[in-house]
Amino acid sequence: MSEVVALLFLKLLLAIATINISFCNGSSYVACMGSEREALLRFKQDLIDPSNRLASWIGDEEDCCTWAGVVCDNFTGHVRMLQLRNNPSQISMLGGKISPSLLHLKHLVYLDLSFNDFGGIQIPPFLGSMVNLSYLDLSSAGFLGMIPHQLANLSNLQHLVTSKYLGLYAENLRWLSGLSSLEHLDLSNVDLSRASDWLLVMNTLPSLVLLRLSGCRLSYFPPLSVANFSSLAHLISPNNQFQSFLEPIGFFGLHNLVSLDLRNKQFRRQIPDGVQNLTSLRHLYFVQPTILILPFPNGSIGELSTLRVVDLSLNRLNGTLTQIHFSNLTRLLDFKASGIVGTIPTWVWKNLSQINYLNLSHNYIHGEIPNLTDVSQLESLDLSFNNLSGPLPLVSFSVYALDLSSNSLSGSISHFLCDGINQLKGMRILKLGENHFSGEIPDCWMNWQDLLVLNLANNNFTGNIPISLGMLSSLQSLNLRKNSLSGQIPVSFQNCTKLVMLDIGENQFVGNVPTWIGIRFSSLMILNLRSNKFRGVLPNQLCGLTSLHVLDLADNHLSGSIPKCISNISSMVTANFSIGTDIQYPSVSTGKYIEDALLVLKGKAVEYNTILKLIRLIDLSKNKFSGEIPSEIMNLRALVSLDLSCNSFTGRIPKSIGALESILSIDFSANQLYGEIPQSISSLTFLSHLNLSNNKLSGKIPLSTQLQSFDPSSFAGNRLCGSPLPNNCFVAAPAPQNESEDDIDGNDDGDEDEVNWFYVSLALGFVVGFWLVMGPLLVSRKWRYRYYHFLDRLGNKIFWVVRKCW
Ligand SMILES: *[C@@H]1O[C@H](CO)[C@@H](O)[C@H](O)[C@H]1NC(C)=O
Ligand SMILES: *[C@@H]1O[C@H](CO)[C@@H](O)[C@H](O)[C@H]1NC(C)=O
Ligand SMILES: *[C@@H]1O[C@H](CO)[C@@H](O)[C@H](O)[C@H]1NC(C)=O
Ligand SMILES: *[C@@H]1O[C@H](CO)[C@@H](O)[C@H](O)[C@H]1NC(C)=O
Ligand SMILES: *[C@@H]1O[C@H](CO)[C@@H](O)[C@H](O)[C@H]1NC(C)=O
Ligand SMILES: *[C@@H]1O[C@H](CO)[C@@H](O)[C@H](O)[C@H]1NC(C)=O
Ligand SMILES: *[C@@H]1O[C@H](CO)[C@@H](O)[C@H](O)[C@H]1NC(C)=O
Ligand SMILES: *[C@@H]1O[C@H](CO)[C@@H](O)[C@H](O)[C@H]1NC(C)=O
Ligand SMILES: *[C@@H]1O[C@H](CO)[C@@H](O)[C@H](O)[C@H]1NC(C)=O
Ligand SMILES: *[C@@H]1O[C@H](CO)[C@@H](O)[C@H](O)[C@H]1NC(C)=O
Ligand SMILES: *[C@@H]1O[C@H](CO)[C@@H](O)[C@H](O)[C@H]1NC(C)=O
Ligand SMILES: *[C@@H]1O[C@H](CO)[C@@H](O)[C@H](O)[C@H]1NC(C)=O
Repeated sequence: MSEVVALLFLKLLLAIATINISFCNGSSYVACMGSEREALLRFKQDLIDPSNRLASWIGDEEDCCTWAGVVCDNFTGHVRMLQLRNNPSQISMLGGKISPSLLHLKHLVYLDLSFNDFGGIQIPPFLGSMVNLSYLDLSSAGFLGMIPHQLANLSNLQHLVTSKYLGLYAENLRWLSGLSSLEHLDLSNVDLSRASDWLLVMNTLPSLVLLRLSGCRLSYFPPLSVANFSSLAHLISPNNQFQSFLEPIGFFGLHNLVSLDLRNKQFRRQIPDGVQNLTSLRHLYFVQPTILILPFPNGSIGELSTLRVVDLSLNRLNGTLTQIHFSNLTRLLDFKASGIVGTIPTWVWKNLSQINYLNLSHNYIHGEIPNLTDVSQLESLDLSFNNLSGPLPLVSFSVYALDLSSNSLSGSISHFLCDGINQLKGMRILKLGENHFSGEIPDCWMNWQDLLVLNLANNNFTGNIPISLGMLSSLQSLNLRKNSLSGQIPVSFQNCTKLVMLDIGENQFVGNVPTWIGIRFSSLMILNLRSNKFRGVLPNQLCGLTSLHVLDLADNHLSGSIPKCISNISSMVTANFSIGTDIQYPSVSTGKYIEDALLVLKGKAVEYNTILKLIRLIDLSKNKFSGEIPSEIMNLRALVSLDLSCNSFTGRIPKSIGALESILSIDFSANQLYGEIPQSISSLTFLSHLNLSNNKLSGKIPLSTQLQSFDPSSFAGNRLCGSPLPNNCFVAAPAPQNESEDDIDGNDDGDEDEVNWFYVSLALGFVVGFWLVMGPLLVSRKWRYRYYHFLDRLGNKIFWVVRKCW
């Protein structure tokens, strides 16, 4: 897809370039026209620009060609492009009205207003008069209502994107037939359920290369007498409500179709006849989660010798894969299918000589995997989530990604690791988690120095971490969780300086938390040493882990106090959301691999991966920590969960607790904390789980919308009073004006001022923090979905962690 966009863009630039007889600079440079500058200033006047993105758009004498987002023709000085797309990771949306003064930009060919927020106005019909436009992107810009038919006049338009969000609709698409130059059309999420002419109209667009109609509420393919889409290369139309497919005639014209994406819940048919005639097809996505297909249609995809990617996941194909399904797929790079029941015959392995990527994960495949040392083209093999058993097979040197997680493989892995001891292995990703492997982890890692991801979690490994693991100097993710490993973390580990995630929780490791972790692992985002036998104090050097998102040291024998330097962990101070790009996790040239991790949040174990960038978590529960809770911890404004329960912390809860503006969950239960609950806690609007039970807290529980809604057990085992506890404060507690207990200095006047300012800045902090969290969520539906889905999952039981302290 990006190829197409890039191509169109290139064409556009060329178009501009051909008009510019010479590219000018210095003396021959022409400044913008006065009338166009006026038009831009009037356009700006009607906009709302809270973040002052258009700050450079000022002045009568200024050259408007230097203004942000304005691109001029260097030769004539005419404004050619307005690039006002908002970067979705920044909250700098333009709003307001779109002034018809744009009509004075007679030479404008490119207008991009995407990802702004025009607050639900209609797409301005006057845009239809800007007949020189060849590129128009109005997606995700807050336009609602009917798409104006006046756009029909844009006969030079090559690229049109109207919407990524719901809210736009079209009664018919007659206007589209005027856009005879259209090559790239994206009407995703525009409600076309009433536009029964959609296919007829699109059939008249002779240049259409890419058609994207995702989520358009289309339910049927109208009959066509002649299919005319001879140039169509990409038909991306998932998430509609098609009951049947365009057949049989519809496929005739699609000689150049390269990708076909019809992932759709409603299909009642099997893979349509005629797919085999799409001789250029390279990418086929056809998902059908609800309907059983019996049997796998013979040969219909087997004839597509150009196919490179097949995704039939969730089709619940039933039947044994036979040679016929693969025989002619000689170019296949990636085959994904799910619902396959049965075994994989040996010949499949032997005859897949051209396959580079094989993904048969999430099926019901059983049996043993043969040694694959001869399959010399295979680069990536994913058989995770099946019922495969037997020993770990040997694989050819060409394999750089092997995922056999969640099967029933068993036995030792030493033949795999130590075989050919003198030969360097090129493997980058090795995931063997959730199997029944046993024995020691062999000390043969010296030949695996390209490894980026190593996951041996949830097996039955015993013994120490082998010293040679320290030779994996490229390793970014190491997961050894939930085995029976013991001994200390070897010093050789210092060499793994690229680690982003280290999870060795739920084993029997002993010794101190090494000081060098904080010095050598400067990229670490996840440190999980949970449920081991580590003892000693937390080294100050841990504060050097400035990228840390998750610090889980719960359930060990750690003691001493929390270092005050903890506020140096800067990634917990500011949440730096960057929408759209997933976290910088081990990514190999061919695909992104986001390591799953398991952490305990809000008293529940939650599996997460992409949501990681929203998570900042500290769990020190179930240790022997003592001393006061340092007020510095309250500087970690991006923290989502803080669990200090089941320790021996004393002193008061820091007054500045209200600064934890992102916090969802606080657990300080089973400590020796005393004094009142700080008033500022009532400003924690996102707080949805609080446990202060079993301390020595006293006084009235502060009033807020949240606190009174918690279960009384959150406050039990203290000397607290007031809602939600049943006891009334007027009887149980000292008079409320008795501030001196809280005021250690006894300096009432100064303190009062300070408190006022504190709340003012808190309120500001809240507003800023709120928008930091919510702004991106409002901008991106994907993220909004993920975030609420994640919050939702917090509310659902996955499993309760036993809440007893010891
Ligand atoms: C116009 O000139 C500027 C500055 O000299 C240059 O950066 C830009 O690439 C030129 N634009 C085109 C389309 O040639
Ligand atoms: C289109 O561009 C041409 C010159 O390239 C100009 O003369 C004409 O007025 C423009 N049309 C409109 C409607 O802006
Ligand atoms: C579209 O073009 C027609 C014919 O050229 C013209 O009558 C009409 O006013 C135009 N509409 C707009 C919105 O420019
Ligand atoms: C097919 O496309 C041509 C333009 O290339 C157009 O003239 C013709 O009307 C179209 N046929 C149908 C049936 O839409
Ligand atoms: C596929 O193409 C063949 C000839 O190349 C034709 O006979 C057949 O009808 C086509 N099938 C479909 C479903 O279009
Ligand atoms: C599919 O292939 C199998 C074996 O090659 C054959 O027995 C069966 O009849 C075929 N089914 C159809 C629908 O062609
Ligand atoms: C494989 O391709 C050959 C030649 O192109 C063809 O004769 C044969 O029918 C194809 N086999 C399958 C299963 O599609
Ligand atoms: C697969 O199909 C067979 C009959 O062909 C049926 O007995 C079996 O239950 C099906 N399996 C699944 C998982 O649907
Ligand atoms: C591999 O495929 C070829 C033809 O494509 C066939 O002759 C040969 O028997 C197959 N090998 C195995 C082991 O099935
Ligand atoms: C794979 O190779 C190893 C080592 O040569 C051997 O022990 C094992 O039995 C082989 N596995 C199979 C299934 O042939
Ligand atoms: C782990 O190994 C022990 C003995 O070595 C065995 O009793 C236990 O069943 C194994 N657990 C699993 C999950 O394989
Ligand atoms: C650490 O890496 C260096 C070079 O990368 C190597 O010479 C040294 O032996 C390694 N140390 C350990 C303990 O593996």
